[in-house]
Amino acid sequence: MATTASAPVLNQNVSAFVGKTQKILINGKWSEAASGKTFSTYNPATGDVLSRVAEGDKEDIDRAVKAARAAFDSGPWSMLTPSERGRMIWKLGDLIEKHLEEFAQLESLDNGKPLAVARVADVPLAADMFRYMAGWATKIEGNTIPISSGGGKTQFLAYTLREPVGVVGQIIPWNFPLLMAAWKLGPALATGCTVILKPAEQTPLSALLLGELIQQAGIPDGVVNIVPGFGETAGAALAAHPDVDKVAFTGSTEVGKLILQAAAGNLKKVSLELGGKSPNVVLQDADVESAIDGAAMAIFFNHGQCCCAGSRLFVENEIFDKVVDGVAQHANNIKVGPGMDPTSDMGPLVSEEQLNRVCGYLESGKAEGAKAVTGGSRHGDKGYFVKPTVLVNTNDRMKVVKEEIFGPVVTVIPFRNVEEIAAKANDSVYGLAAGVWTRDIKKAHRIASLLRAGTVWINCYNVFDAALPFGGYKQSGWGREMGHEVLEAYTEVKAVCTPIS
Ligand code: NAI
Ligand code: MG
Repeated sequence: MATTASAPVLNQNVSAFVGKTQKILINGKWSEAASGKTFSTYNPATGDVLSRVAEGDKEDIDRAVKAARAAFDSGPWSMLTPSERGRMIWKLGDLIEKHLEEFAQLESLDNGKPLAVARVADVPLAADMFRYMAGWATKIEGNTIPISSGGGKTQFLAYTLREPVGVVGQIIPWNFPLLMAAWKLGPALATGCTVILKPAEQTPLSALLLGELIQQAGIPDGVVNIVPGFGETAGAALAAHPDVDKVAFTGSTEVGKLILQAAAGNLKKVSLELGGKSPNVVLQDADVESAIDGAAMAIFFNHGQCCCAGSRLFVENEIFDKVVDGVAQHANNIKVGPGMDPTSDMGPLVSEEQLNRVCGYLESGKAEGAKAVTGGSRHGDKGYFVKPTVLVNTNDRMKVVKEEIFGPVVTVIPFRNVEEIAAKANDSVYGLAAGVWTRDIKKAHRIASLLRAGTVWINCYNVFDAALPFGGYKQSGWGREMGHEVLEAYTEVKAVCTPIS
């Protein structure tokens, strides 16, 4: 279990786990896919097969929905008290913490991220999400409402109930595999919903280990069903399923629109957490050193594979060169290498597809006249590594400025004054997050109010908390995750009213 500087040793449970063929969890039983098919998940540091996984499809989704439906409509889940539910969710958080090292290694192997990052970010944040949501289980309340109907002749008692939305399909991406599962499952369980979770085909492993812990936590069979498989088959079947009451999706804006169409059949509720092209704005009166550190972290954290990555860095003219140099210096100091190597600061991208996509953007930037101050290409020829890249000489029409790259690539754009910055920063179809760096408190809050984004970080970036709502304006999504806001996405409101005079 110990990790030395030169040779990280794989946790025994992790080697045993990846060595077996992964199964599907439906109604508390682990089974093969109905088709008998399996697919491979790869180690992106090498391109080698990491593990084989049952390939869930429409038939498996049907079975999983049946189990979730029964667990919701008549199963033990709805009979549990909120307090009992909350204790199980809390226990799940404890179990994640207990298995921290296994989860961290699985995330590093399957996704490529540095082990040290998974240890301090992905896994503890996932545990914390369940603990935060455990507390909500006992606090989901309606209101009593004074109404004027009856014109005073008849008095009414009117109140609202907040009830679970029902059976929820959850489709998650590969950039934070365990954490995205926690963001989705936490509120669903707290509100008393049942779930069919489809992890991303690139990174199914941590969700499947989580399935074992869900069972250990005592959460009844059928409440959480986990069906690994591909988006176009398992994912699409889940989004379209007539017995699913809600679908919650995190991923590309393109697929978000497909989810919406698929959901139209039974008008299931939809929440979406989609892409971004987040502006990070540095004013000349900022603490420039910390702005440089923050700007580098905003784009290079998780190799730029963050929906909220600070990928458009706007810098006031006077300090433009200094900030470009500083961020480039950061990029040059990043050691790119396998996530399991403790000396690596940045691992590979998740897949060959993402490598090709990001390199395609680098080529397009070059062709359109952008200049790479540093980076600008693939790193090495084995595994899916990309050099941290800083682009300048861009214009508003370039693809590298307009589209989400989802890699360690930042475009740095100068601006003249505060008056023009909101319009420039808001010139995007996305509106997920933004950053502002300044020592002037008035400017900071004025700009924060003008930015069309679901999160604004002032003199910081990538600060996440289970209590803080997260989600997008515009084409970055519908609804919010985390905080008490997310509970709205998992509940229906019932108005009850009766005459009492
Ligand atoms: P994607 O949106 O295709 O995949 C995300 C999830 O959706 C996966 O579980 C996938 O299996 C599922 N999915 C795919 N097609 C589906 C369909 N037709 N119906 C139902 N589910 C479906 O994202 P992909 O292809 O992995 O990455 C492409 C781009 O998407 C990235 O370059 C990045 O720009 C963006 N992305 C954004 C994320 C975010 O956190 N907002 C996360 C992952 C990707
Ligand atoms: Mg896709």
